[in-house]
Amino acid sequence: MTRRPCPYGSHRSLEPAGSLPQPAWRIDNCPDIAPNELLIRVDTLNVDAASFTQLEKAAEEKGGSVEDNMAAAILDIVARRGKLHNPVTGSGGMLLGTVERVGPEHPAAGSLQPGIRIATLVSLSLTPLKLERIRQVNLDRDQVEVDGRAVLFASGIYAPIPTDLPETLALAVLDVAGAPAQTARLVRPGDSVLVIGAGGKSGLLCLHEARKRAGVTGRLYAMAHSPASVERAASLGISDAVFAAGADRPLEALAAFHAVSGGEAADVTINCVNVPGTEMTSVLCTREGGTVYFFSMATSFTAAALGAEGIGRDVNMIIGNGYARGHDLIALACLRENSRLKEIFESWFV
Ligand SMILES: NC(=O)c1ccc[n+]([C@@H]2O[C@H](COP(=O)([O-])OP(=O)(O)OC[C@H]3O[C@@H](n4cnc5c(N)ncnc54)[C@H](OP(=O)(O)O)[C@@H]3O)[C@@H](O)[C@H]2O)c1
Repeated sequence: MTRRPCPYGSHRSLEPAGSLPQPAWRIDNCPDIAPNELLIRVDTLNVDAASFTQLEKAAEEKGGSVEDNMAAAILDIVARRGKLHNPVTGSGGMLLGTVERVGPEHPAAGSLQPGIRIATLVSLSLTPLKLERIRQVNLDRDQVEVDGRAVLFASGIYAPIPTDLPETLALAVLDVAGAPAQTARLVRPGDSVLVIGAGGKSGLLCLHEARKRAGVTGRLYAMAHSPASVERAASLGISDAVFAAGADRPLEALAAFHAVSGGEAADVTINCVNVPGTEMTSVLCTREGGTVYFFSMATSFTAAALGAEGIGRDVNMIIGNGYARGHDLIALACLRENSRLKEIFESWFV
């Protein structure tokens, strides 16, 4: 690694050298930090849902212990790439740990002290990570307990872990913080909103935020998948309708949506699923001139763009930027504002 540190981390990119760290195939994960970097002692990885689902499926197909196979796959990716950047899904996740050292030229030097618990808000797909071992793979919450070290660049955002919420819960919420924050920007009073993948983490947060922004004159529809997801979304008690559908089967999903909306299309559709092939359900369910927000990491740009063109539907399509100003505060506020939502997350992540 050259020691001319770049605020975006390009000084750690090895393949190709000098590239930005997210698109780089391999980065330098040496815990010997540059003056503008931050060193974290890592204990928990919150793996992105699309990545976790893919790793779990591959581990099941291999036979034997799913947890052991997943642990081996994660160690292998990190050893080969210097980061937990899933080569199949392209996604990462984020981490929880304790500040170990703050470089003298890091923006937080002087204000952030070693020993503070933080969650990173930049993707693991660009975060230098060195793992000593994997202690446990938690299949029920997409989290992995590890011993390791990670490096945050000068531009890397993070959030101190709030003291009023359990850490694993805060981590799960912060991972998908961009979704409710974008929902807050997109939904207007009176809008008809469809959330796809409504029984998942980001889906539930978006339901809360959409209801708040659409108000009593708006309509809120929750498309969930398995019975457990339908039950979670329904138990929030804030949607006009909660229904089951497979968003990877667009025409059936559209019919299921029309059945509950009386044929009305959505002004805003928010896609929070963790599997591929759901672009066209999102487009079909959205009115001409409406907005589709693709938070899902399993979204294909090509499928969305060519699919919308193919059916002649003029909709605005927004890529789910993981970062929106204040997204951590908005996401954590959802739990503080909605006790039922908090209960659901507690039963899931604590
Ligand atoms: N844009 C970003 O910056 C960013 C950041 C973090 C995460 N993400 C992505 O956001 C997505 C959601 O993350 P999450 O953590 O909220 O995931 P999650 O908790 O796993 O929720 C995903 C939901 O998708 C549902 N689903 C699966 N297959 C479906 C289908 N065929 N039709 C309809 N729904 C289906 C699942 O329902 P069942 O469990 O009932 O099958 C689940 O409730 C993932 O793709 C993740 O990678 C994006």
